[in-house]
Amino acid sequence: MVNKRRLLMKSIALSLFLFFTFSFSTAAQSDVSNKVDYSRDVIYQIVTDRFYDGDSTNNPSGNIYSSDCSNLHKYCGGDWQGIIDKIDDGYLTGLGITALWISQPVENVYALHPSGYTSYHGYWARDYKKTNPYYGDFNDFDRLIETAHANNIKVIVDFTPNHSSPALETDPSYAENGAIYDNGTLLGSYSNDPLNIFHHNGGTDFSSYEDSIYRNLYDLADYNLHNDTMDQYLKDSIKLWLDKGIDGIRVDAVKHMPEGWQTSLMSEIYAYEPVFTFGEWFLGSGEIDPQNHHFANESGMSLLDFQFGQSIRDVLKDGSSDWYDFHEMIDSSAVDYNEVIDQVTFIDNHDMSRFSEEASSNRHTDIALAVLLTSRGVPTIYYGTEQYLTGDSDPDNRKPLTNFDTSTNAYQITSQLTSLRQSNPALGYGDTNERWINSDVYIYERKFGNNVVVTAVNRGHESYNITNLNTSLPEGGYNDELNTLLDGNNITVSSNGSVDSFNLSPRAVSVWQYTESSTTPLIGHVGPMVGKAGNTVMINGEGFGAEEGTVQLGSSTVEIQSWSNTEIEILLPNINPGKHDITVYTANNNSSNSYNNFELLTGKQITMRFVVNNAFTTLGSNVYIVGNVSELGNWNPDEAIGPMFNQVIYEYPSWYYDISVPANESIEFKFIKKDAVGNVEWESGINHSVTTPQDGTDTVIVDWQQ
Ligand code: NOJ
Ligand code: NOJ
Ligand code: CA
Repeated sequence: MVNKRRLLMKSIALSLFLFFTFSFSTAAQSDVSNKVDYSRDVIYQIVTDRFYDGDSTNNPSGNIYSSDCSNLHKYCGGDWQGIIDKIDDGYLTGLGITALWISQPVENVYALHPSGYTSYHGYWARDYKKTNPYYGDFNDFDRLIETAHANNIKVIVDFTPNHSSPALETDPSYAENGAIYDNGTLLGSYSNDPLNIFHHNGGTDFSSYEDSIYRNLYDLADYNLHNDTMDQYLKDSIKLWLDKGIDGIRVDAVKHMPEGWQTSLMSEIYAYEPVFTFGEWFLGSGEIDPQNHHFANESGMSLLDFQFGQSIRDVLKDGSSDWYDFHEMIDSSAVDYNEVIDQVTFIDNHDMSRFSEEASSNRHTDIALAVLLTSRGVPTIYYGTEQYLTGDSDPDNRKPLTNFDTSTNAYQITSQLTSLRQSNPALGYGDTNERWINSDVYIYERKFGNNVVVTAVNRGHESYNITNLNTSLPEGGYNDELNTLLDGNNITVSSNGSVDSFNLSPRAVSVWQYTESSTTPLIGHVGPMVGKAGNTVMINGEGFGAEEGTVQLGSSTVEIQSWSNTEIEILLPNINPGKHDITVYTANNNSSNSYNNFELLTGKQITMRFVVNNAFTTLGSNVYIVGNVSELGNWNPDEAIGPMFNQVIYEYPSWYYDISVPANESIEFKFIKKDAVGNVEWESGINHSVTTPQDGTDTVIVDWQQ
């Protein structure tokens, strides 16, 4: 009853919102308001072919199609019309999700893979400037964007700039030989590659970061991204989809491409049309990788938060660790990621077993969803989780969705908490504090200004009497925001924030919240966190005031594009490149918190391959590069780029690295050696110098100066 009323209220609120937006706003009609701040959104991940078949006329025929989807390696008919239908019939809007991540929309190979696989998943591109006809045509895509935007839902597309499709160097008849086309014109194939757009270095054994970048991932034809044709083609392609109105990008296999090229890709995207972008860097259970943190902090892209995902699976699915471990992950990741609220969290996806394995495990799924939706990061729900779809590894974790039941507990929990994420900014912007913990029970508080959300979880099979719980909640009584969907309880908080003792039931989750806007300025989110002069950046939070104040980047005052109490758009100024803090001042000069580490680029970026020959090192020492621009660390050895590579493209004693640097600029640089404890040895002689190209990529090769 209560839930239905909430849904009704929500849809009335939404209609009013749409009415006001479309009646009085001058903004482009089918634009969602903010494409860079996803911290209050919830993403729904769709394998397009498996979600819903809304148009059977576009289904494939022949050996790549399985009409009853009994062969999960084949196309099953799902398409963009199916997604439109499920927005129109209220299934997705009722779930409350505010963004969709769909399969890569581009044309994929048609051939059947020798092992009987097909490209239904969208990861085997053939032509990035065409659509996958089995998902729909451009007209269908436009309608998907329009329908989503009209319902305040953002659309994120998958993007695979790492590779084209399966190929074998020695066998041109293997699948489609990796052939890649630019709007119908063949650019090359794996065994006929006159433009040198592919790497021909064999498959990676995953033995090192370098090996996995410059060799093929499985049998996928790996792009040579240090190639002007490929660089231009991929950047133009993503712009085509940006022009189509997409709101976000999920980049496949970012661990398998040079960070420098991806940094240049992001600067191109942010100068063109800033949209939230996150990469896939797979981490196994318990795996922590400093390169992963470096990438998230420096590339301009966020990452799928595998640390979060694996940890919640360990605690709630496998039972191999407990809440102490989970909280340790929450604490350490808040330090390791500069912008932890921009990392994209999940409990399962198309590359891991589904969270629900059997009916008896539905409660694990419910609890995990509640934790996911009340934790930091951008939560993503894999399609079908709300229906307790089961399935172990690929392709069983990609079964078609046949049930669209809006009464499941998981659907109701999601619906409640997605709306709480929108109404209470503590979930999107807040810090996390542990308030009560043992191996079964975790009570954590998220707080942003005066806004507070407290979540209490008991994964155990006995009830716990909770005493001495302290919170930041103001005095009063609080109802469970989940309306006892997970056996939660109400609490009474006294004036000092302490909570009267209560019983937390077995397998229960309670959520209590307090919403009150701040009257002083408080920044919750800035995005993108990198850009060049002339780009726009969004600042979100509260208490900025209705009247326009000022914003400072470092010590410079920037130009304001638009100003409201909760959102400011600024134009990046032409000041000293490098990292700066952002601070908001209200009209009457109240200052906000400062949001740290915004990176102002020197200018438009291109990728440069720096190579140094004859750089001999002793065991444990590596070669780095440092130079006179902020992209090369401004001569500070602590900010030098590296360790450089020396195994695949060039071999020791040569070292190389692909780096995003300013275009059309005369750059000075030197190489240094650093040993395991950080001792630095500079090469002698005068600085090397190079003038970078205006577009494309270039290589500079020098000798280490003795
Ligand atoms: C990671 C994707 O998530 C996976 O499903 C895909 O097969 C590989 N990258 C290759 O594109
Ligand atoms: C950090 C630098 O500041 C940035 O400009 C550079 O491109 C990346 N690191 C890539 O390594
Ligand atoms: Ca279809």
